Amino acid sequence: MKLSIIGSGYVGLVTGTCLAEAGHTVICVDNNEAKVQELKAGKIPIYEPGLEELVRRNVQLKRLSFTASTREAVANSEVIFIAVPTPPQEDGSVDLSYVEGVAREIAEALSGYRIIVDKSTVPVKTGEKVAETIRRYGPKGVEFDVVSNPEFLREGSAVADLQKPDRIVVGVASERPVAAMRAIYEPFQAPIIITDLNSAELIKHAANSFLALKITYINLVAAVCEASHADVTQVAEGMGSDARIGRAFLQAGLGYGGSCFPKDVSAFIRIAEELGVGFGLMREVEKINAGIPEKFLKKIRTSLWTMKDKKVGQLGLAFKANTDDVRCSVAIEIARRMAEEGAKLRCHDPKGGEKARELLPASIEIVGRAEDVALGADVLIVATEWPEYRLLDWNKIKSLMRTPRIFDGRNLLNPAEMKSLGFEYTSVGR
Ligand code: UGA
Repeated sequence: MKLSIIGSGYVGLVTGTCLAEAGHTVICVDNNEAKVQELKAGKIPIYEPGLEELVRRNVQLKRLSFTASTREAVANSEVIFIAVPTPPQEDGSVDLSYVEGVAREIAEALSGYRIIVDKSTVPVKTGEKVAETIRRYGPKGVEFDVVSNPEFLREGSAVADLQKPDRIVVGVASERPVAAMRAIYEPFQAPIIITDLNSAELIKHAANSFLALKITYINLVAAVCEASHADVTQVAEGMGSDARIGRAFLQAGLGYGGSCFPKDVSAFIRIAEELGVGFGLMREVEKINAGIPEKFLKKIRTSLWTMKDKKVGQLGLAFKANTDDVRCSVAIEIARRMAEEGAKLRCHDPKGGEKARELLPASIEIVGRAEDVALGADVLIVATEWPEYRLLDWNKIKSLMRTPRIFDGRNLLNPAEMKSLGFEYTSVGR
């Protein structure tokens, strides 16, 4: 099918590329002309395993192209996806001005029947508003359908998540767009759940909030484990083996971060409360999650006695492994706060160093080799669970440190091994 995606950010670019790989002809649109030129030249603005190769291949096969013109995209496609940012506003509610702007641009370019699919994470009832906007600004009598098709990909495994989804949610207001949506997703061989528009929009916020709740729950269980000398990884395994609970998202650590969960949890609270439903449960989740960095720092402070002038080596800056994304990263927050307290930090991240540089004070050094953070360090922190950190030469690291102390905020390393190497080793809930 002929498709276009408006917005070539994380979701837009990966979705467009995977739809092209599935055999469709896809035009990716972005209003940033410089970005479009870079994409045309094969330069990918984000790190995502497998993406670059897929973009290159599909551009070569002429199934994937880039433009800054929404008009051109609308004219040349049957289905138009909206994948623009929906950032949080100061009060936690969602800024829908990009979605509204794109809806108007599409309306002004419409000349015949099109399906307009919203992929951005939006509050319930946004699809209705998009339809109203298109009716208002589009040519009189032009036919169209608005569909909600939330995206569930995770950064770091976006290509794999998109190509092998657990399910595809399609919210519609009429039967007419259903066949086309099934045809688009047929190559993915995943169950397609057809719902009404509002339910599809709610599924996304409800799912992300539930996952954030699950992470927060295990983090509280970890605190109980710490106080009772139990091991949260064993507890999580025992709990997660119950098929009704499931093992995923029971990894205790530094709490949830990134550009989705914090924003979606606070948006969902506002959405519910505006509809008259008190959501104290998720308010508590937000509060507990926000308190986790301080709990972690307190452990480090207690061990160091005073933070000022202590040398700290930090492994990890990205908000999780396999991504260069440092937005709302707990690792960044921890580094920044330690520097504010007078510690001297050396940090490393396999992919996120460059983006972290823009967010961290100049006094924090970012090094290119992981081992180098250990040089003369009083303490070493694991703040992102990059698997390659497990394979470091920990004997050498110990010899480089002034005092061999590790605070593993991600439970990445093996406690018995670290202790047998002579480290004073502290992790989360075990
Ligand atoms: C999340 C959802 O998992 C995706 O399904 C959704 O499409 C996406 O948000 C979105 O709304 O766009 P993402 O933010 O990329 O994806 O990352 P996750 O893998 O979900 O991790 C989120 C945070 O939770 C990270 O800070 C991670 O370290 C933390 N986490 C995750 C834990 O602390 N413990 C876990 O067991 C799992």
